[in-house]
Amino acid sequence: MDNRALPPVHPVPADLEQRPDPYPWLDRLRTEGPVQRIRLRDGSDAWMVTRYRDVLAAAGDPRLSSDPRRLTGQTGRTVRLAAGNAMPSMLTTDAPDHTRLRRLVSRAFTARRVEALRPRVRQLAEALLDAIAPRGRADLVAEFAFPLPVAVICELLGVPFADRAFFTKQSSDLLRPQVDAAGVALTAAARGHLRDYFADLVASKRANRADDLLSDLVVAGEEQRLTDEELISMGLLLLVAGHETTVNLIGTGLWLLLQRPDQLEALRADPGLLPSAVEEFLRYDGPVMTGVARYTTTDVEIAGTTIPADHIVILSTGAANRDPQRFEHPDEVRFDRADNPHLAFGHGPHFCLGAALARVEAVEGVGAVLRRLSGLTGAATPDELRWRPSVLRGLQELPVTFHPN
Ligand code: HEM
Repeated sequence: MDNRALPPVHPVPADLEQRPDPYPWLDRLRTEGPVQRIRLRDGSDAWMVTRYRDVLAAAGDPRLSSDPRRLTGQTGRTVRLAAGNAMPSMLTTDAPDHTRLRRLVSRAFTARRVEALRPRVRQLAEALLDAIAPRGRADLVAEFAFPLPVAVICELLGVPFADRAFFTKQSSDLLRPQVDAAGVALTAAARGHLRDYFADLVASKRANRADDLLSDLVVAGEEQRLTDEELISMGLLLLVAGHETTVNLIGTGLWLLLQRPDQLEALRADPGLLPSAVEEFLRYDGPVMTGVARYTTTDVEIAGTTIPADHIVILSTGAANRDPQRFEHPDEVRFDRADNPHLAFGHGPHFCLGAALARVEAVEGVGAVLRRLSGLTGAATPDELRWRPSVLRGLQELPVTFHPN
């Protein structure tokens, strides 16, 4: 292709996920066209798909791989370096490996199995609020949105909750934007620490089988359905994916409510509206905002643009979820939005395995806060709030005051 004919490259802003409102940048790209050239923060060139209908189609298109090891050319140099440090997991493999790995754990995350966890999630939420309620003030991210999903995924996997200070620090380092060599080194070190941690944990499950998902995976390993490396990387993926995102969903959701006291009261009066409110939190400002990565295995035409083989493609779930061609008044928060097939959990074969669990945690978590804390007020303005230094979108803290009880 003649370089002069190529459209301009948009560098992804280093602070995109930390902006009070990152959506004008995504809106601008979508307005400029359905497929845009971008430069990722690690310097790689990539393409961004911005419209709802194209993201939906591309997420199920087998010509777009989820495996960065499929990249062979110069385009993928950085991604391949990063992938070389990573162990392949279901998130970064294609069929048939993806299918085999996902099948090993999918039963634990079905709607029915997750529904059975609801009372326990509620109990954990109540216990956290018992400690907060008498005080009249709290940081609802550090003291509530964070420990709730961490406790749930620890119980499910069989990871000691007592180790949370270690693994939550490592997992947030793992998800820092890799803007420079120091960032890349931090991420690689965190991955190494988590890998060692899981290797030890797997060894101890092997010695003392328990009633948890990691022990089930040890059995699958003995039956030669997965290798040791795959077992460790599966544990790591489930632990990281199982809490980082949901913390953000609960934190952002509570913040959206605090900014809309009348809607907060409506939800308090009718908790039956909570499930649809949670879907709107996910659409309006979901944790996976910038997008999910794919790699072209052949030339792929999307909305009139041919993306050459061997290129990185970001399917922007955040841009798609604000697409005015799909959502009426996309920039308005409507907790009773009836037609809301957002893409916050992705789509296609890699559709979020933990979606049902995240939904239960958010409905129970936000519901418990509304039940237990009256007179709830945000103690910071939008400009004072800090967003986490992460590739995911979520609040660093949410200071609130309320009537002590
Ligand atoms: C995949 C979002 C919670 C486990 C994904 C994907 C998205 C996503 C967008 C698709 C990635 C892609 O297409 O490349 C979210 C959000 C969550 C959440 C927004 C919370 C609000 C969870 C939880 C778990 C989890 C609680 C629990 C274990 C996974 C796994 C995958 C995945 C294992 C990979 C699935 C596959 O590749 O087949 N998630 N997630 N997620 N998620 Fe979640």
